Amino acid sequence: MTESGRAWRLVLLLLAVVCGLCDMGAEIVEASDDLLVADFEGETYGEWQVTGEAFGSGPARGALPGQMSVDGFAGVGLVNSFVGGDDATGTLTSPVFRIERGYLSFLIGGGRSDQLALQLLVDVRVVRSATGSNDVPGGSEQLVAESFDLTELSGRMAVVRVLDGAKGSWGHINVDQIVQTDVRPRGYVMNVERSLRAKTRYLQLPVRNGAAKRVVTLLVDGEPVVQNEIELADGAVDWWAPLDISGWRDREVTLRVDRLHEDSAALQNVGESDELRDAAELYGEPLRGQFHFSPRRGWNNDPNGCVYYNGEYHLFFQHNPYGWSWGNMHWGHAVSRDLVHWEELGDVLQPDELGPMFSGSAVVDWNNTSGFGADGRPPLVLIYTAAGSPTVQCLAYSTDGRKFVKYAGNPVLGEVTGGNRDPKVFWHADTRQWVMVLYVEQRGRHTVHFFVSPNLRDWKLASVTEGDAVGGRYLFECPDFFELSVDGAAARRKWVLLAANGEYGVGGFDGVGFQPEQQRLAGQRGRGFYAAQSFSDVPDGRRILIGWWQTETRGMPFNQSMTIPLELGLRETTEGVRLTFAPVRELSALRRGVQSLGELELRPGQRNPLEGMESELADVELEFEPGTAGAVVLTVRGVVVEYDVRKQELVVAGHRVAAPLQSGRQHLRVLCDRTGVEVFASGGLCYVPMPLNVDSQNRRLYLEARGGTAVVHSVEVHALRSAWSRGGER
Ligand code: FRU
Repeated sequence: MTESGRAWRLVLLLLAVVCGLCDMGAEIVEASDDLLVADFEGETYGEWQVTGEAFGSGPARGALPGQMSVDGFAGVGLVNSFVGGDDATGTLTSPVFRIERGYLSFLIGGGRSDQLALQLLVDVRVVRSATGSNDVPGGSEQLVAESFDLTELSGRMAVVRVLDGAKGSWGHINVDQIVQTDVRPRGYVMNVERSLRAKTRYLQLPVRNGAAKRVVTLLVDGEPVVQNEIELADGAVDWWAPLDISGWRDREVTLRVDRLHEDSAALQNVGESDELRDAAELYGEPLRGQFHFSPRRGWNNDPNGCVYYNGEYHLFFQHNPYGWSWGNMHWGHAVSRDLVHWEELGDVLQPDELGPMFSGSAVVDWNNTSGFGADGRPPLVLIYTAAGSPTVQCLAYSTDGRKFVKYAGNPVLGEVTGGNRDPKVFWHADTRQWVMVLYVEQRGRHTVHFFVSPNLRDWKLASVTEGDAVGGRYLFECPDFFELSVDGAAARRKWVLLAANGEYGVGGFDGVGFQPEQQRLAGQRGRGFYAAQSFSDVPDGRRILIGWWQTETRGMPFNQSMTIPLELGLRETTEGVRLTFAPVRELSALRRGVQSLGELELRPGQRNPLEGMESELADVELEFEPGTAGAVVLTVRGVVVEYDVRKQELVVAGHRVAAPLQSGRQHLRVLCDRTGVEVFASGGLCYVPMPLNVDSQNRRLYLEARGGTAVVHSVEVHALRSAWSRGGER
């Protein structure tokens, strides 16, 4: 080969490399001769014309009040038509520009509708249009890169218009970084499929947290059987979400994805296995609560269907099996014989044509009023919200606590108002009927509707309790309603109406309506506690509550958890009847060793009496009289639990709440797991759940008095073992 021939080869090789790079996508490769149409980085929209209210007076800087977190935009500003909420409408139109490049690339997000669009107009006609990706509750506020091909429009004069003509849920659009470019933007392929014969229990779907959501459908014999929105990983994978295909063994199954980048490896990367990926780490992960329930994979929120049936406690839960954040609401399912050791069994309710599976409850239908029983076995009946449009109440049932069937006559209760949800059902022995409490928003007010039924299938409205009736505007979501004895006296019983945030009312119930006796009261006093539910049919009559504990576990293939199960009581205090909370007694089964101290005087500056008492998982009980001390401080693995004697308040990790002394004494119980602490004080009147990622290196316990001497009556430090057979102390 001649010299010049060699040089040409080199030039061609370089060209090939450069072109290869260009093909990787316009999102990351910005050509120097790109023409910026708008980047929305300024305080105002400049020469763009605004109509209506939706766009405000200038670009937004991320999310607006009341909006989920918005990401995926470039720089600090973007167009966000959520100004004034979803109902505001308007347009935003660019100055006229000449089309001088082959493509118009942009970032877009928000609602999906022909009334929500980024449009390109030439000669006053819309010639190109794009919209957001969300049209059902939930979803994602992430902007994604899209583009218009302009090659046929070269040299024409055009304007870009952002249109928000939509109201209601997802009635807004987000846009950013509009650029004319000759670099062909990375394209999408629509309805990409991969078929295989189902040989294993799971397909392992690659997930990248925060990636654009794709509609992923599993088809069997051409029929869609499972459909979810999943943040599929095009390349690097954060974790693998198992899709259970065991029901179609040896059949051909097809995964279909609505759209993928042309160079996405998502479908090739889907794996097949009988075990979870990374099963060896299961329950031993660094941020896995060791005595708090959390799902093996994916996201959980509310506990659902809490019930005791056939010798087992059943805990169902709001579950996104395919995402690290909320979405794709399924009912996950776990069982336990002792409220401490849980076995997760797999999802029992998946979204269907009536909508995603929102929260609800479970009962044992002892008298088979529903007719769902079989062979003399009373059915376990789930009552749940299907959150489609309309949003309705439905049933599913089981006679073995394992296989659940949705009732063919669903829904059993139509929509009262949009968003009505979270049915909690119980058997009211006095009137021999089922009662359902349902959260309903009516004319902008939060209410609880009471319905009654002879058979769980036919319901009629009995009464309505306004949020205001129990002293406030806020009696929101996930109501629970149950009767408890006051101070354990069987003859003195009262009803408690509990809301998702833990606030409650106390009063009477006659089978028709709730008669509150006092103002709405604060229940739990901590953080990240929500949507708690009590167990139905507990054999010994205890009222046991479990809450969603908002423990954020970044970097883990799961997110969120439950509180420990809590035994509730009612206590007569000088201020009236109040709820009390205590860890269920079964938890002490995890105690594996105790170190204790008897009576001692705790002086300021003295040596730490808990020196050397260390444990990763700890259950600490401390009883003291404050004496002359201003504060008694118990520090558990770096988490400060301070009792402020003068104010009779407890400060847990900086969060201050009332905690009155009881007969001059304070008894603190602190349960410490990897994901936070739960603190009990004042004889259970004060319960402070506090999610936080506890420093894994710090095992120290520390006890001190400040400003004076306190008398400690007893300290017990119990080291706990993990509730997971595969977990353990690190
Ligand atoms: C409470 C809640 C419920 C709803 C569920 C949906 O956290 O919003 O009202 O049923 O979550 O996941």
